[in-house]
This record gives sequence, structure tokens and C-alpha cells, in this order.
Amino acid sequence: MKIIFAMGNEGKLREIKAVLGEYFEIVSSKEVGIKGEAEETGKTFEENSKLKALYVMKQTGCPVLADDSGLEIDFLGGKPGVESARFMGHDTSYDIKNSAILDLLSDVPDEKRGARFVCCITAAIPSESGEPEILQATRTMEGLIGRKIAGKNGFGYDPIFFLPAYGVTSAEISPEEKNKISHRGKALRAMKDLLLGRFNK
Ligand code: IMP
Repeated sequence: MKIIFAMGNEGKLREIKAVLGEYFEIVSSKEVGIKGEAEETGKTFEENSKLKALYVMKQTGCPVLADDSGLEIDFLGGKPGVESARFMGHDTSYDIKNSAILDLLSDVPDEKRGARFVCCITAAIPSESGEPEILQATRTMEGLIGRKIAGKNGFGYDPIFFLPAYGVTSAEISPEEKNKISHRGKALRAMKDLLLGRFNK
């Protein structure tokens, strides 16, 4: 059975195929000719990933998977949150964004530097009633905002996301290691269980 992933990002597509490829044929929305993306007007990761999934489901009539993720920083009241990609401007480099966050938290003690990456994956499944079926899995990776930029792996905010259990940032662990503990890896594996249950696999 075919499931469309509502995004062109090769890295994410590879991750999804690694977890679901054995059970489903995973193709990207780009591969099936969908142009553009849903506007992320939601206030939560759940709302935004659902908007992204429904946007592609309505155009294709196929089951669709979409994700939405971001970084919540306790000291900033959960910001940048759903605005993570747009924080300080979409085109601003992450070196600049990460330095700005370190500056904002420069006087903040360790116990108040809590942060988490959050990922919600939504499956939108067309149904005969016309009301799409929605499955969702949200997972987090907990950590702290570090004191300096460190590491070359990963992307985005990884170089300032310190993992106390490892003593390094999530940009300093390998992609395989990150996948085991990350918000996206965990949400994806939870979604796999939901889909296997739904389709009796
Ligand atoms: P999305 O692709 O719309 O879900 O945007 C998520 C944004 O959150 C990314 O552009 C990054 O800024 C941030 N983000 C999400 N997951 C990660 C991660 O694993 N590492 C670093 N940054 C992340």
C-alpha cells in the first residue's frame, strides 16, 4: 500500500523509509507532483502537521504522513516552538540564531536552561464518509540549552542542544545515535505501531 510523505526533504524521507519501508511503499509528495505546501497557521505541532497532511491528502486521495517539529525553551516560555524554522527570519543562518539564543540565556543558571525538541507526526487517511481519519504521535527529546555552539552533525538548533546523559550536544552524536533518542525517531516508531494496527499488518 502506498503512503505519501508530505515533504520533499531527502533526509526525512530516508528516515521514514528506514522505519516504514518494509510495510508500505513510501513516496514523497514531490515525486507525485504536488507543488507547494500547506501554510503553517496552527498554534501547535499537532495542528500544523495535520494541516500539512490534509493538504496533500485532499489533492491525491491517498493516505499521507506529515511531520511538524521545533524547539521549546523553558526560559523563553516555550519559544521558538512552532515558530522554530521562522525564528529571527527563515533565511537567517542557524549560527546567528543559535548565538542569539545563547546571548538571551547568558545569565541563566543550568537548572533553568531546560529545553526539548518536539515532533508530531500525523497520518491523514481518506475515508468513504468523506471525513478523513487522523492518527497522531507526538514525542520529545529532553535536554538543556548549552553554553556554547558545539558539533557539526545534525542541523538547526542541534549545536546548542546539550544532552546531559551524553555530556555533548545533539550535533556531536552520530545520526544513528540521534535517531534512537530523537523526538522524530520516537514519533516515527510510534506512528509505525499506529499504522500497523490500523492496517492489520
Ligand atoms: P519543520 O521542518 O517545519 O518541522 O521545522 C522544524 C524546525 O525546528 C527546523 O527548521 C529546526 O529549526 C527545528 N528542529 C526540528 N527538529 C530539529 C532537530 O532535530 N535538530 C535541530 N533543529 C530541529
